[in-house]
Amino acid sequence: MFTFDGRPVPTDGEQTIAAALLAAGVRSWRRTRIGGRPRGVFCGIGVCFDCLVRVNGTPAQRACLRVARPGDVVETEEGDET
Ligand code: FES
Repeated sequence: MFTFDGRPVPTDGEQTIAAALLAAGVRSWRRTRIGGRPRGVFCGIGVCFDCLVRVNGTPAQRACLRVARPGDVVETEEGDET
């Protein structure tokens, strides 16, 4: 279990944050700098950087590459936080 914006999300400790969020029904976890548009997974292989989240206080982590560990605190990435 980890949290996403304070909400508990199950994880098996091996899947990525993106996979766990999608399995939990979450489709977006970042807002664009211009327009605040929602973003989630696009490429799914670490190339596009659309899936950025803040993990344990560290911004700009790619959710499609980062394994979701029990106890992680994952938060929506808002605009230009890097
Ligand atoms: S979805 Fe493209 S880098 Fe993560």
